[in-house]
Amino acid sequence: MTPRHAPVALWLAAGLLAAGASAAPDPAALQRGEQVYARCAACHAIEGNRTGPQHCGLWGRRAGTAQGYSTYSKALRDSAIVWDERSLNVFLKDPMKTVPGTAMGYAGVKDDGERADLIAWLKEATRPGKACQLVP
Ligand code: HEC
Repeated sequence: MTPRHAPVALWLAAGLLAAGASAAPDPAALQRGEQVYARCAACHAIEGNRTGPQHCGLWGRRAGTAQGYSTYSKALRDSAIVWDERSLNVFLKDPMKTVPGTAMGYAGVKDDGERADLIAWLKEATRPGKACQLVP
């Protein structure tokens, strides 16, 4: 490579680094998200059903279908929600307004930043077979 090309290579490398940085979850955000999840842990676990259903495998799952959890409300089962960033953002802001009749008696995470961090962390922590195991 001639010196003439070096700036192009540097520019490319910088661009790739920037793209990588924006695609990868921010570790500080993930840490904050995990802290927000402590509020959920009164009723939920990532692995295993408690008062609320297990969260392992949440992404792409239809609402009301976690295996081994049998006490879903009809409202949630009939909601036709599929869990992803967007549906979780709406539901977790105000669960009882989003799904009237839900058995999740929780006011929601009202702060937009806290909710974004929580969802970013949940996405990583609920990857089945990678971050967690589904409990029958
Ligand atoms: C007071 C107990 C309680 C708290 C606190 C709580 N949940 Fe729930 N959650 C439930 C129950 C019960 C259900 C089942 C709701 C139904 O069947 O309508 C549920 C359902 C859910 C669902 C739907 C899961 C599915 O399988 O369809 C998600 C997602 C969820 N909760 C996330 C959270 C998050 C994230 C938090 C913390 C910000 C939280 N919950 C806090 C009790 C709780």
